[in-house]
Amino acid sequence: MTMNPLKKFKQWHTAYTKIAATKLPSACCLTSIGSDGYPNSRFVSLKEIIENTFVITGSLTSRKGIELLANPKASLTFWWPETQQQIRIQGDASQIDQALANTYFKGRHKEAQIVSHICQQGIEIDNIADLTTLFEQKKIEFKNIDIPKPNDWSGFYIDPKHIEFMEFKSNRFHYRELYTKEQNSWSKMILQP
Ligand SMILES: Cc1cc2nc3c(=O)[nH]c(=O)nc-3n(C[C@H](O)[C@H](O)[C@H](O)COP(=O)(O)O)c2cc1C
Repeated sequence: MTMNPLKKFKQWHTAYTKIAATKLPSACCLTSIGSDGYPNSRFVSLKEIIENTFVITGSLTSRKGIELLANPKASLTFWWPETQQQIRIQGDASQIDQALANTYFKGRHKEAQIVSHICQQGIEIDNIADLTTLFEQKKIEFKNIDIPKPNDWSGFYIDPKHIEFMEFKSNRFHYRELYTKEQNSWSKMILQP
């Protein structure tokens, strides 16, 4: 029987996290598809794996949110220099529920929570100082209270259909293993480098 690639992901990620020089060992490149048909990539942080899905968080009204809601196909790509490993994931995105979004929002730094409150991520602004002034005001307003999650802040499960693991080899025959999910079971093939 083929190994569940999510188990393999966790093994690689745990090993990488132990030796990673970066402060953000869960950073990955999320690609969504724009309404113009062009792919659109940016880094996000993988929050965790829940029931065999990869969870990410962010605004629903920024480009990533709008694009994933309109066309729920996504990819996540990891590159880990210390272990010379790349992981590519393609899958279907679906919004996480309110309770889980609240939990992640609560776990954010207070300053990040305030920024999520006052910013319309990705909207043009004439003067960033307007936002920093508002930030200082909100810091006072929210000083002793739990900051509620803004309605447009949430996250997505990425339910993987394909997961490819690649490991650099010094002889250039890089090892590539592609897992594909069909009817809830995974098959595996080895790819030429
Ligand atoms: C290492 C790294 C991690 C990031 N993590 C997140 C994240 O978890 N969620 C998020 O919304 N933005 C994150 N960002 C910011 C995004 O890259 C991006 O600037 C922002 O989400 C707006 O993207 P959008 O306009 O495509 O929605 C991160 C950026 C970097 C460089």
